[in-house]
Parts: sequence; C-alpha cells; structure tokens
Amino acid sequence: MKRILITGALGQIGSELTLKLRDIYGTDNVIATDIKKNNSEAAQSGPFETVDVTDLNKMVEIAKKYNVDTVMHLAALLSATAEAKPVFAWNLNMGGLMNGLETARELNAQFFTPSSIGAFGPSTPKDQTPQDTIMRPTTMYGVNKVAGELLADYYFHKFGVDTRGLRFPGLISYVAMPGGGTTDYAVEIYYEAVKNGKYTSYIDKGTYMDMMYMPDALNAIVDLMEADSAKLQHRNSFNVTAMSFDPEEIAASIAKYVPGFEISYDVDPARQKIADSWPNSIDARAAKEEWGFKFEYDLDRMTKDMLEKLRQKL
Ligand code: SER
Repeated sequence: MKRILITGALGQIGSELTLKLRDIYGTDNVIATDIKKNNSEAAQSGPFETVDVTDLNKMVEIAKKYNVDTVMHLAALLSATAEAKPVFAWNLNMGGLMNGLETARELNAQFFTPSSIGAFGPSTPKDQTPQDTIMRPTTMYGVNKVAGELLADYYFHKFGVDTRGLRFPGLISYVAMPGGGTTDYAVEIYYEAVKNGKYTSYIDKGTYMDMMYMPDALNAIVDLMEADSAKLQHRNSFNVTAMSFDPEEIAASIAKYVPGFEISYDVDPARQKIADSWPNSIDARAAKEEWGFKFEYDLDRMTKDMLEKLRQKL
C-alpha cells in the first residue's frame, strides 16, 4: 500500500481510516472520495475527489489520475437502511462493489472491502460462530455482504486481484456516526450517557452482538493489508471481534463511569429482527492465525475512552 483510493471516505470507517492512512503512508498518497464533500478533517486534510461509486468511469478516471496501487471500497448502506430500501441497497452495495473491483483490476491494485457479521443468518450457529459455516442471511445487507465476499474471492481467483476483507462486528467510535445500522445503539448510548445520563434502547435486553472499538478496527485493516498474501487462506472474509455484549452489559459498563446512568427499552421490531438473525459471538481464530489479528480494547476500556473523548467533543 503506497497510494490509496478510498471510497466512502467520509463515512463511519472512512472518516478515521483516511487520517490514519495519511499518517502512515503520507497525506498526498491517500485520496479520499465520497459522493459529496464536507468540512470534516478527512475531506479537508489532503486530496479529495467527488466520486459516485455507481459511476465506474469516474472511479477509474480518478484512480488513474493519482496512479493508485490500492483501492479501499467503503461506500455502502448499512443494515437497517438497506432493509428499508432494498432495491437501492442492491444497486449501491453491489454496483459500487463491482465498480471498485473493476477499478482494482484495471489498475492491478490491491483491494479491500469490509464484510460484516450481517453476512450470517438465523441458521448460522449463534455462539462462537465458526469462520467457515452456514451463511443464509435474511437481510438485503446480509445478501450483499455474502455476495460481496464471493465476488471478491472470484476476482482473486479469476483475475489475480489481491482482494482482502474482514467480517466486522458493530464498530463503535466518537468521530463519525454510523447511521442506518443495527448495532448503532452501542454508539448512541455513549452520546446519550454524556448528554442526558440515560438511554432508551431500540435493541432489547438479552440481545448479544459482537462489537469492536474503531482504533482496533483500523489497526486490523492496516495489518490485514500488510500481511503476507500467501498466508491468507480466508482472504475476503475474516471473522474479527473484540467483545460481545447485550444492552444491559454496556449500560453496566457506562454506569461505572457515569453514576446513576439508566437504560430503558423501546424496542424497534425491524432492527430487533435483524439483530436476532445475527450471531451472539463469533470466533476470530482464523484472523489471529493467518495474519496475527489482535485488539486492545475490551468493553470497559472502550467505555472509559469513549466517554472521555465524547465529553471533550460535546
Ligand atoms: N454495524 C453494521 C450494521 O449494523 C453491521 O455490519 O449494519
């Protein structure tokens, strides 16, 4: 990775990944793109181009203009939004991914795109979900993610594109809001804890999902992209996770730092249904064995850092 094009660079992951990659590889070597520019640091601190990922010609044109050797395709709709707009989600998530892969093929570039715990479904084993297992998701987002993993594998086998990917759990950060995901409650709860000392959860108690703090997610992306290609048996679909909790447990963690913090429930059936179809906890051993995946933040450490950072921010 020396010269990197990022799509969806102003989204939840991109807002921070862009800055991290600029630190590592140099500001001018990381080209941020998104459908619209904004005032964020990712948009303002280095090269930025407006790119709609459904426009292949524009994506290739920008990739060639900067002569990139890596494409990181992050632009996508998350699970709850995709469920509300399934046709739009298919066109954006799959069309965008095809264009990202085609751009990587044309430039002979390395390629990264995130998959998700959303790629699993109700018939998947729920606890310590294995790396290789049943994948019959019941959401449009999940269908997109499974198809995306297969498509990225296809581009590797068929065209030799060095594709790589991670099945991310819910990602938690204080920088950019996720927007439209099922795991977003675990971000919102920290904002509400700082602002109001209480939170009403749309996910029910007892619902366990995997999660990870953004700094660990960013390190995982860099480490995977820098890993020896020959060692990657599961190159487009590594399970990664740092913790699994339900709303009661994250609330208890917050209460350690926000005395009197209270959680209540007003369950959203649509997002609850999605959460119920996903694993309780996934097994990340393949990522550890094949490229040394590791994480630093458990629930309490993340809570402490999130609350500190949000108190400064808000
Ligand atoms: N955070 C994502 C979502 O909830 C999971 O990949 O959609």
